[in-house]
Amino acid sequence: MNYYIGIDIGTSGTKSVLFDASGNVVASSSYEYNIISLKPGYAEEDPTKWWEAVLFTLNELKQYHNGNVCGIGVSGQMHGLVILDENNEVIRNSIIWCDTRTEEEKEFILSKFSNDELKDITGNHCMSAFTLAKLLWVKRNEEDNYKKIAHVMLPKDYIVYKLTGKFSADYSDSSGTQWLNIKTLDYATKILDTFELDRNWFSKLYESTDIVGKLESNLAKNLNLEKCVVCAGGGDQACGAVGCGIVTPNDMSVVLGSSGVVFAPTKELFVAPNAEVQTFCHAMKGQYHVMGVTNACGTSLKWYKNTIDNKSYDELMADASLSKAGANGVIYLPYLLGERTPHLDNYATGMFFGLRNTTTKNDLARAVIEGVGYSLKDCFNMLEDKEKTNVVISGGGAKSALWREIIASMLGVDVRTIKSDEGPCLGAAIMAMVACNEYSDIVSACQKIVGYNEISKVNLDFKKVYDEKYLIYKQLYLNNKEIFKKMKED
Ligand code: XUL
Repeated sequence: MNYYIGIDIGTSGTKSVLFDASGNVVASSSYEYNIISLKPGYAEEDPTKWWEAVLFTLNELKQYHNGNVCGIGVSGQMHGLVILDENNEVIRNSIIWCDTRTEEEKEFILSKFSNDELKDITGNHCMSAFTLAKLLWVKRNEEDNYKKIAHVMLPKDYIVYKLTGKFSADYSDSSGTQWLNIKTLDYATKILDTFELDRNWFSKLYESTDIVGKLESNLAKNLNLEKCVVCAGGGDQACGAVGCGIVTPNDMSVVLGSSGVVFAPTKELFVAPNAEVQTFCHAMKGQYHVMGVTNACGTSLKWYKNTIDNKSYDELMADASLSKAGANGVIYLPYLLGERTPHLDNYATGMFFGLRNTTTKNDLARAVIEGVGYSLKDCFNMLEDKEKTNVVISGGGAKSALWREIIASMLGVDVRTIKSDEGPCLGAAIMAMVACNEYSDIVSACQKIVGYNEISKVNLDFKKVYDEKYLIYKQLYLNNKEIFKKMKED
């Protein structure tokens, strides 16, 4: 029996899943860690912890595969900056995707390139969350660390390096750096030159399904992975999309993870006009996707649970179901980590609006999941083509029937779940299966592997309320935008 492993370097933990060649889960193992937040707006993680997590999980899987693993694919949280010195040691913690310290670097980038120029080269307007701004932050604030840099990479590429000893990058993840030329699929020389970034720091670029190498021999022996190759893998959104079968322009996915995402494949390089749409390479050669991201989706509920009402997620959802659509007048803005789509605003903060002496915790819990929903509606609205026949909802939040119904009603489209909830790990494993010729390509692998489950239908009563309240939700940001900025030092 041929086995494959998908590894996902997530924000709250790393998961490795062992699949058979039909995509069935044989075993899985997880290892958790926390974001290091030394100041408000700062979000870092230690790459050596990710590696510790990978070793732990691969060791746990060892007993299930008898050495018959043909391939590993790695998926990873996107945009994070990993820098290594000339001895290939990590120089500092990774500044990760949801860190919001880089507003000044964004202005600096925009002093050299207009948004139109950046969009033309990289597919995206200037995004403070992307890796270029983080690298420039190190340059401007940590001269000693900057001088030591010999390699620059993304989180999952660090893990591929630790597994194989080879430096690699793939197109889907590199699209979120602002140093990839999305048309030529090479590093954007003009950007590297303008910011005096050394071309030698950057790794060889691969398609997601290309083989980067075998595991280093001692490691392979210790983990009983001697037959196994590692492919380049992808960013967690591209991997998650593959794992959910979101591979044709008829498909769309909504991901309720730490971040919330609306993701839609496009046939051609569709340089979307609106500033907040992210345009990226998909994991299939020559295919692209657009995506909108709300920073604090699951993070909002986790914050609510840890800070306001420490119950299980199931209990919080049960509470929310006792309130009603519109949360009895409470509206929550989910901007705990600033906001990407649609505002591109690092200063925005979270907010409960409409509290009264009659407001209950049920209303607050409901407002949190609805607030995230409105934000995903913002992401959905920015898509040019909303006629999708297959809309899949996934991620931890999709386990809740109530949250699914709320999202369907807000977006006005029925959404379905998939049988396997291993999204990014399954997607990464599918890439490894294609790399090992188990399937000829990602689309045909998805047709065989991905199965669908329940459909959550639009609730017309909910929809009526949400269509009205959404306008107020939008107004709340606009009315407070300047105040958020004034409060930025607090
Ligand atoms: C995507 C994004 C997040 C991270 C974390 O642009 O920032 O989804 O990849 O999962």
